[in-house]
Amino acid sequence: MTLAVLLSACDDSENGRVTAAEYGEVLFNDSRLSESNFNSFSCATCHATTPTPPAGRMDSGYTLYDSAFRESWWGGYETRLLDAVNFCYVNFMRGVAPLPKDSPQSRALYEYLVSISPSPSAPARPFTVVKDVVDVSRGDRARGQQVYIEACQSCHGAPHTGAGRLTELASILPEVTNDYGTLFPGVPKSLVVIEKVRHGQFFGVGGNMPLYSLETLSDEDLGALLTFMDL
Ligand code: HEC
Ligand code: HEC
Repeated sequence: MTLAVLLSACDDSENGRVTAAEYGEVLFNDSRLSESNFNSFSCATCHATTPTPPAGRMDSGYTLYDSAFRESWWGGYETRLLDAVNFCYVNFMRGVAPLPKDSPQSRALYEYLVSISPSPSAPARPFTVVKDVVDVSRGDRARGQQVYIEACQSCHGAPHTGAGRLTELASILPEVTNDYGTLFPGVPKSLVVIEKVRHGQFFGVGGNMPLYSLETLSDEDLGALLTFMDL
């Protein structure tokens, strides 16, 4: 609360100067926050900032509205906000090193997150990682198409063609699985996809795709998605 008061007290927007929070919002929406040439993600690629995410958007990351004063982050794995941000910055945005505490970028991002966090304390959000992946029941094809559009399409583009994808590095789905028989002999293709969706780059898998927790993508929706992708 005191911080919010402090912030509004030094709000310079009325005399035309850019406040730290405004600069933070620009950084939040700009993939060039990361210096890596291989990065095309901005914070906004994976996080909404409205109280509830806009309809039609199923992100791997939670909305960051009221995120600044949560009790902890990443399901309790992170107890400092900057560490929670840097986890994304390094692992998903290929930042070479974590943003230092006193850098203009980390300070501005902090002020921006504070500016969209009216509640002085907010409960931690649950984050359940599926550790050992197992097959899931297949589901409804139409629902699967909806899940594809809302969860995968912004990065991977249209199914079968990749049209409109965010980056050439995002594979064409589901065609990328055509080679899985030789790459992962004896493992069902669907299980490789489940592994990717549930772990992103973790547990020995490479890349910078984010992981989906059970809260952000249910097994039911994942099953429907597999049906849609004929897997
Ligand atoms: C490629 C997707 C992706 C990008 C890009 C990304 N994040 Fe995240 N972020 C996630 C995921 C997945 C989580 C874990 C789920 C969650 O807690 O929201 C997460 C968690 C967080 C959390 C903890 C939220 C909580 O309550 O647990 C914060 C804060 C955060 N990200 C901030 C940022 C900021 C700031 C940026 C830009 C510098 C950023 N993220 C970039 C995917 C991403
Ligand atoms: C934030 C962007 C983003 C989102 C959202 C996303 N992906 Fe990805 N995905 C990528 C990128 C980039 C790669 C290539 C790098 C890597 O392997 O991590 C990738 C790779 C993959 C691969 C592995 C391809 C290979 O090399 O074998 C699969 C499978 C996949 N994604 C499936 C999905 C599915 C299914 C969804 C939706 C539930 C999804 N992705 C959502 C960015 C994303």
